Amino acid sequence: MGYNGYEVLELMEQNDSTAFHRVSIDNLEVGMIVEDVFASDGTLLFSNERAINGLEQIELLKKRGVSSVTVRVDTQVNDNHHPDKLSKKESFSSVREAAYYHELTIAKEVHKEILETTKNVLSSVRMGKQFSIKAIESTAIQMVESVLRNPDALVSLSQIKGYDEYTFIHSVNVAILLTSFAHAMSYSPDQLLKVGVGGILHDIGKMRIPDRVLNKKGKFTDDEFQLMQKHPAYGIQIVKDLQSISELSKTVILQHHERFNGSGYPHKLSGNDISEMGMMAAVADVYDAMTTDRVYRTAWTPHNALALIFKGSESDYSRKIVELFTKNLGIYPVGSFVRLTTGEMGVVVRVDKGNLLTPDVLLLFGMDKKRVKDPYECRLSEKLSDKNGMPIGIEISLNPKDFNVIISEFITENIFK
Ligand SMILES: [Fe+2]
Repeated sequence: MGYNGYEVLELMEQNDSTAFHRVSIDNLEVGMIVEDVFASDGTLLFSNERAINGLEQIELLKKRGVSSVTVRVDTQVNDNHHPDKLSKKESFSSVREAAYYHELTIAKEVHKEILETTKNVLSSVRMGKQFSIKAIESTAIQMVESVLRNPDALVSLSQIKGYDEYTFIHSVNVAILLTSFAHAMSYSPDQLLKVGVGGILHDIGKMRIPDRVLNKKGKFTDDEFQLMQKHPAYGIQIVKDLQSISELSKTVILQHHERFNGSGYPHKLSGNDISEMGMMAAVADVYDAMTTDRVYRTAWTPHNALALIFKGSESDYSRKIVELFTKNLGIYPVGSFVRLTTGEMGVVVRVDKGNLLTPDVLLLFGMDKKRVKDPYECRLSEKLSDKNGMPIGIEISLNPKDFNVIISEFITENIFK
C-alpha cells in the first residue's frame, strides 16, 4: 500500500512553510489566500487555502455572516509572483481528477464486494452462526487501497442508498465514510484497516435485536428504545472473542452513539472521555442515517444534513470533528441535487476538494425548468458565465424527490462513462 503520485503532491502541499493570521472581513482584499471559511450556519464556504479572486466573493462572505478569516501571509497579492506554485497547483488538480475517474471503475467492483461480504456476515450473526473476520479484513484491505489511491471514488458510491436492508447498506456506507475521513486525518494505512473493519461491524449488535423491534415502522416504546440502545454493547459481546479484532475497531462499535454532552449511549460518556475515533464514528453514522430514506421519514439532503449536524456540534458532537468531516465531504457532496444561478438543476457527480463550491453537476433540468432529454455535464470549476456575464454557481440544494429524481440512478448509471 504505497503512496501514488497524487498523495506525493498532497504531501508536498502540506510541507510548504506557511504562516497565517486572522483579519477582519473589512480588511480582506482580492488576491489574499484564505484558509477554510465557515458561514454562521456551518456551511463551508472556502477550503484548502483559496485565493480571493473578486470583490463579489468578499461580498458573499459578508452576506453569509463571516466577520473574520484566516489569511496566509507572505502569499497574498497574485500568483504571478509564484509561477512554480501555480503550475504545481494546476498539475495537482488534473492528477487528482484523472485519479478519480480511473478509480471509479475499480471502486465499483470493490463496493460490490464490500456489500456482499457485509451482507453475509450480518446474516450469519443473525442466524447465530460463526462468521469469518478474515473475510471482513480482506474486504477492508480492498476498501483502504481504493481510498489510498483516490478517496473520492468510493465515497461517491456510498451515496447509493436503499429502503430495504437498511442495516447492511448503512454499515457499508459508514465504513467507507469513516475510512475516507480517517485518511483525510492522516491515519496510517494500518489504522485505516482497523477503522474499516470497525465501520463494517459497527451495528453488528443490531443482529441480536428482534426483527419486530429493529424494523418497526412506528415509534419505539420505552422498553423497545432501551433494547435498541444495547446494540453497541451486544456488538462488543459478538466480537470480543475474535482474535484479530483491534481496539480501534472495538471503539467504533462501542462509541458511535456516544454524544459530546453526555446524552448518548451506552456509557453516557462526555467530552474528551469519548475517543477521537468515537466522535468521528458518531458523525459518519448520523450523516449516513440522516441522508437515507426510512419508512418513517424521508431523507435529508446532504447539504441540509451537514448543516443540522453542524448545529449540533456544540452539544452532540465535537465541533472540530464536524468541521473536518464537512471539509472532507464537500459543501455539496456527490449525490446532492442543486439549482444553479441559471435556473438549471442537476445532480453533483464529482467534488473538487480544491474548491468545494464548484463541483461537476450533471444537469437534468434546463433553464426553462423542464426535464432535458439528454442530461449534460456542467463543470463549474471552468468559471462559466451566464448571458449577462455573471459567474454561474450553485444557488441552492433541493430535495430531489420534489422533482421525481432518484439520485442513485445517476450515480450508478451516469458516473461510469
Ligand atoms: Fe448504531
